Amino acid sequence: DQVDGTGMYLFPGLVDAHVHLREPGQEEKEEIRSGARAAVRGGFTSILVMANTQPVIDSRALVEYVRLAGERAGKARVYPVAAVTKGMAGKEITEMVDLKDGGAVAFSDDGKGIQSAETFRLALEYAKLTGCPVISHCEDDSLAGAGVMRKGEHCARLGLKGIPASAESVMVARDALLAGETGGRLHIAHVSTKESVQVIRMAKKAGVDLTAEVNPHHLLLADEDVPLTDTSYKVNPPLPSRADQEALLEGLLDGTIDMLATDHAPHTWEEKARPFAEAPFGINGLETALAAVWQELVAKGKLTPEKLVELWAVNPARRFGLTGGTLAEGSPADLVLFDPARRERVTAETRESKSHNTPFLGRELQGFPVMVWVGGKLVVKDRKVLD
Ligand code: NCD
Ligand code: ZN
Ligand code: ZN
Repeated sequence: DQVDGTGMYLFPGLVDAHVHLREPGQEEKEEIRSGARAAVRGGFTSILVMANTQPVIDSRALVEYVRLAGERAGKARVYPVAAVTKGMAGKEITEMVDLKDGGAVAFSDDGKGIQSAETFRLALEYAKLTGCPVISHCEDDSLAGAGVMRKGEHCARLGLKGIPASAESVMVARDALLAGETGGRLHIAHVSTKESVQVIRMAKKAGVDLTAEVNPHHLLLADEDVPLTDTSYKVNPPLPSRADQEALLEGLLDGTIDMLATDHAPHTWEEKARPFAEAPFGINGLETALAAVWQELVAKGKLTPEKLVELWAVNPARRFGLTGGTLAEGSPADLVLFDPARRERVTAETRESKSHNTPFLGRELQGFPVMVWVGGKLVVKDRKVLD
């Protein structure tokens, strides 16, 4: 078969290092199958899936369950991340070496951040033995408190409880120092403040083995854009200030930030229909993130297509040691045929994800993958995921 790619880009399969599928336990929000389908429709041929399911992914059997369910779905390659502590309770460290052999590619206590420095230090020591990075969500509970959006003028106007920027950046500093001391590998999830970028830049200069990611919604949406009536903007960490956004983009361009990642966090309408203060945190990202970044950053000349591929394919694949697909040599490739002219309105009906909690719902975006191959097999054709 011949494919006419006139005017299009052929990318290596994109790798998303931060995805929440909700299986096991909350399949009404997302299943491994629906999530793996949403991933390829969004251009991602490999995804790292987080451990905050119910039950938490903290045993070899559960890691294998996630991996097998991913294989059965037969769409994006699904790489499990296992919990750092048993049940993500923040106390007892899981047996990381065993989990590595069961298929985990990284360790995380996502959605929480490990509050005890002693426990996080231990986690880095153990992770060092496996060669896998520990992913830190960097949130200080005592500073975040009951906050629901970034602390500042807009937050005060809306009458909501704020989360200060320091709730993130003091934990980034702590975790970077612990990584430096232990020699453990650290990956910092969803960086959203300018102070975090400064700390990461310093830590890298000092030789700490750390990488960091930024999520498209933090680059493209700011706290002042948050409407009190739309909880699809409610996310952790909260949407930052414009000054933070400038620092994040600068960090991406100068190599301080290593990768883009969606932090795909599906939630049901029912939950998101609660008042802003009570709705769950999280933005659904797999099917809109690439188009949004393309339209707002690449098409406007702020990010080159080459840099995009480095940030969303090469760097995450390298960091998490993913040898299949994107970086594979001598085996069938993972590829994405991307049409920069393709315009589409984001609607609930056309999506593969089971949830639709995205600020882009109802909006038109430009720049979508039209065909996708995983391991040489065609999985998306003319924007449709094949069965
Ligand atoms: C994530 C979720 O819903 O699992 N929510 C979010 O707002 N990002 C958890 C997380 O990554 O912190
Ligand atoms: Zn988080
Ligand atoms: Zn997350």
